[in-house]
Amino acid sequence: MSRIDLVIKNATVVTSTEVFRATIGVESGRIFSIGTEVTVPRGEREINASGLIVLPGIIDEHVHFREPGMEYKEDFRTGSMAAAAGGVTTVLDMPNTLPPTVDGASFDLKRQRASEKSLVDFGLYGGYKRKDTKSLEELMARGSIGLKLYMSETTGISEFPEDWEVIEAMRRCSQLGLRVGVHAEDGKMILALREALKAVGRRDPLAHLECRPVEAEVFAVSKVLTAAWLTGVRIHIFHVTSDRCVELVESFRSLGVEVSLETCPHYLLQDGEEIMTKLGNVAKVNPPIRRRADSERLWDALKGGKIDAIGSDHAPHLPEEKIVEDVWSAASGFPGVETMLPLMLDQVNKGKISLNEVVRLMSENPARIWGLYPRKGSLNIGSDADMTIVDIRLVRRISADGLHSKSKVTPFDGLTVKGWPVYAVVRGEIVLEGGEVLEGARRGELVVPMRLGGGGSGRIGYPSGTE
Ligand code: DOR
Ligand code: ZN
Repeated sequence: MSRIDLVIKNATVVTSTEVFRATIGVESGRIFSIGTEVTVPRGEREINASGLIVLPGIIDEHVHFREPGMEYKEDFRTGSMAAAAGGVTTVLDMPNTLPPTVDGASFDLKRQRASEKSLVDFGLYGGYKRKDTKSLEELMARGSIGLKLYMSETTGISEFPEDWEVIEAMRRCSQLGLRVGVHAEDGKMILALREALKAVGRRDPLAHLECRPVEAEVFAVSKVLTAAWLTGVRIHIFHVTSDRCVELVESFRSLGVEVSLETCPHYLLQDGEEIMTKLGNVAKVNPPIRRRADSERLWDALKGGKIDAIGSDHAPHLPEEKIVEDVWSAASGFPGVETMLPLMLDQVNKGKISLNEVVRLMSENPARIWGLYPRKGSLNIGSDADMTIVDIRLVRRISADGLHSKSKVTPFDGLTVKGWPVYAVVRGEIVLEGGEVLEGARRGELVVPMRLGGGGSGRIGYPSGTE
């Protein structure tokens, strides 16, 4: 072989367990060779990674790219540019679009749009359609990454399932071998609390914290765990904000329930009352950001290996939908795919977390949980050549105006952060170079999980034949 497609030279590679020097060869979108002793042919393209750190491509398992139907907030072009800028090489997109991704036709539509526009690889969650299990089979047949179940109303979701429907949906997913990811907040409790707050004239941002208390989250978590225990389905709980949920999850893990947990940077790094007092509804998000003491306990759970993944919950809205007086009419969520990795690299520099842990939480585990490992989440020979190359010493300010997302609002605006991605490589194609997004890069592709079959035990599913 005379030349291969891409060579990364002088790399310091960090995986979930190791740190080593290597030259990495890429051919036909896959890792061709990796190591110190290997002799690698010259590359058509070469990156000198001297002074930089190469990570397996970061996966954001939780984005809302809004296409189709709400492209004024975001689309796959701008969303994936934000991903590339943030060093994210694969995104898993949520189903609360218009139409919602709940059956074969809506899945095909979103897949087509994303294939035309995305710079990074993408997986698509399916949504739950009440009283309809046939659609689940359509989603399954098309390679949906998993089923997303909302236990309360939120952007684009006004109906949520009755408890019995949750059990039925989980039973069907268990039979199909589809993992269920849950937004766990108790819808009925929230509606009742909101009415009571409205009745006494509350419309200030802090009312949001009272209307979606931690009790609503813990209560919903207890229900979905019980349903998972009864049906044997594998579940993943998104955006956990409180260690009380983690405690509950641990007890169900000891009963054999296979459950994995995600949290997001804002729950680890912000104090809800402080940030909502300062920024108002810019920081409004479901579930809400709790108090500093909660985030410290969340850190303990994360460090103790009880939380499996970090996702951004990238939920873009236009500033005029966020910056309004009345809390009840303000949109929930803010963009995060571009800031997630830098925020966590900053924590590496502060000594809060190691780079190995960052790789485990933001690349390897999301790949394992959603059946993408070892194609994604790994730098083994034969894996997809997805790499995030970071300058751990680079200092820059996060600026809302500078975000690639259409949504120029973030509660991290103005924060100086140390540690930024400078290159991102998707199946051998460079999409971020020297910190600049390469808009003309080849398009991303749908990623499809390896199915695990029904039932199961243990923490995170390992597709058979991959370990
Ligand atoms: O704050 C949120 N925004 N939480 C969600 O669960 C949905 C998201 C959105 O889609 O806007
Ligand atoms: Zn979300």
